[in-house]
Amino acid sequence: MLILAIETSCDETSAAVVKDGVEVLSNPIATQTEFHQKYGGIVPEIAARKHVELISPIIQEALDKANITFKDIDAVAVTYGPGLIGSLIVGVCAAKAIAWTQKIPLIGVNHLEGHIYANLLISNFQFPISNLFPFLCLLVSGGHTMIVHVKGHGNYETLGRTRDDAAGEAFDKVARVLGLGYPGGPLIDKLAKEGNPNSIPFKHPMIEGEYAYDFSFSGIKTAVVNHVKSLQSTVNSVQKKNIAASFQKVVVETLVEKLIKAAKDKNVQTVSIAGGVSANSELREYAQKRADEEKLKAMIPPFEYCTDNAAMIGGAAYYKFKRKDFSPLSLKPLASLRL
Ligand code: KG4
Ligand code: ZN
Repeated sequence: MLILAIETSCDETSAAVVKDGVEVLSNPIATQTEFHQKYGGIVPEIAARKHVELISPIIQEALDKANITFKDIDAVAVTYGPGLIGSLIVGVCAAKAIAWTQKIPLIGVNHLEGHIYANLLISNFQFPISNLFPFLCLLVSGGHTMIVHVKGHGNYETLGRTRDDAAGEAFDKVARVLGLGYPGGPLIDKLAKEGNPNSIPFKHPMIEGEYAYDFSFSGIKTAVVNHVKSLQSTVNSVQKKNIAASFQKVVVETLVEKLIKAAKDKNVQTVSIAGGVSANSELREYAQKRADEEKLKAMIPPFEYCTDNAAMIGGAAYYKFKRKDFSPLSLKPLASLRL
């Protein structure tokens, strides 16, 4: 059972061929970072135009690498939201054209659901699928930060979410303040390895009580800005490393401790992470360590499936295919689609 999947929700153009929901036969990703870098963030208009240029070659590359042709595909899956509307339109139009011409089902996939299903792709497949549910997923990306109770395929309850900035957004903003460039997450991750995480006592942004699973990252972002201002001169490289390490430690601990608390409160035995920020080396290590200490199972997605990619969309689409959860050719891209 082969699914061709397409992902164009933000600034990565990707297509993948996924077999039986777990085996990734190809997953080329064309990143547009170099075109957005000089603006310090993603320019939606540029992203949409680049997707138009890249979509056909990337689909062909995915088919070639999997050693198949359009005729071998059983269904075509595509991210239809949430994301940048101009970017989403490109992928959805391409998928519709393929579904129509090949007379195969079209499967619209929620991008957030795709991130969760990155955990089920084969290179990480540690648990039999029957034992997988329920699990909690800390979904951390450039636009979202949430704790999701995954009760079964396509069955989600959002336990908490950020009230202001997403975790990835905070990484990107702190990187900008430190003059590191874009995207900030990987750059902070790298720099933090050389810094002292205990050098600056940034406060953990905890929300207690009824909203204990909610997050807030605007405060720590401001704390970093204020700290940089207080230095009253250009930040030197040692200071940058210490700021990166101290900021990252507080964010990672806050994310993971809330995930663990939710698992214990809900009596759920398996926790997982997903989304671009789950590529963070400290988050991956700390989530595994805390899960081990609490005798919980931890699912950490393979590094290459954390940031935006089409394989995760193909993974999620497989279970929709099995439920015959197909989309009509009138499928509309939705910028603010919720889980
Ligand atoms: O999931 P993703 O690729 O796109 C969205 O759906 O938003 O996530 C992108 C976010 C960016 O904010 C980026 O800085 C962050 O993920 N990110 C990281 C790392 N790699 C990517 N954040 C922290 N550490 C990383 N290693
Ligand atoms: Zn994403």
